[in-house]
Amino acid sequence: MITIEPSILSADPLAIGEQAEEVERCGIETIQVDVMDGHFVPNITFGPRLVRALHKRIKLKLDVHLMMLEPDRLIQTFADAGADRLIVHQEASPDLYRILQTIKELKIEAGVAINPATPVEAVEEVLQLVDVIQVMTVNPGYGGQDFIQSQLDKIKRIRNMLDKKGLRKHVAADGGIDSSTAPQVVRAGAEILVAGSSIFNQNGTVAENIQALRKSIQVVEREGT
Ligand code: DX5
Repeated sequence: MITIEPSILSADPLAIGEQAEEVERCGIETIQVDVMDGHFVPNITFGPRLVRALHKRIKLKLDVHLMMLEPDRLIQTFADAGADRLIVHQEASPDLYRILQTIKELKIEAGVAINPATPVEAVEEVLQLVDVIQVMTVNPGYGGQDFIQSQLDKIKRIRNMLDKKGLRKHVAADGGIDSSTAPQVVRAGAEILVAGSSIFNQNGTVAENIQALRKSIQVVEREGT
């Protein structure tokens, strides 16, 4: 089943709560909170306080994408704040396996993200540990960037690797996901579409933009039947 996961990175920073409620009213189950530390990526965004505030206000699952160095320092804090899934970057720590084990011991979902230059082989040894493999289809750090076409083949290779190992895990695509690229990543094997600027923008309401994304993947879903 294909799921759309709005990223609040592109939401109005002064209206994140209201826009998260708009997303909830559209029947979406999970939003992604992009945490950036200004070191692993050149931008700084949200912290545990926002996760806690969202956890109190909405029922949506909170998927916290840690674009930060030394993510192990804040795993417990974000879990306590209400994160339902924690995604760490393969590139962010030499201690990746232990960090993912720690997340699973906290009884929340674990994800691993890989940047455009990182080969799929870099996560082969943790595939059985994680719930989600998130392929960055832009360079992490900002919303509204152009989709990197070369990552389509990487999504296919991850899906093939999982199939060969008989592992049923979710593959997410994050970055530049809109009505044009969404069908492409679904055909490549992604089931979770993380989308920010195609949902939160001036061109339409959150509901209209989510509907447009849903419409764009219906064709592919029909192909799969
Ligand atoms: C990049 C972020 C973005 C965000 C989605 O670091 O992870 O990918 O979630 O942004 P858009 O959909 O605007 O590319």
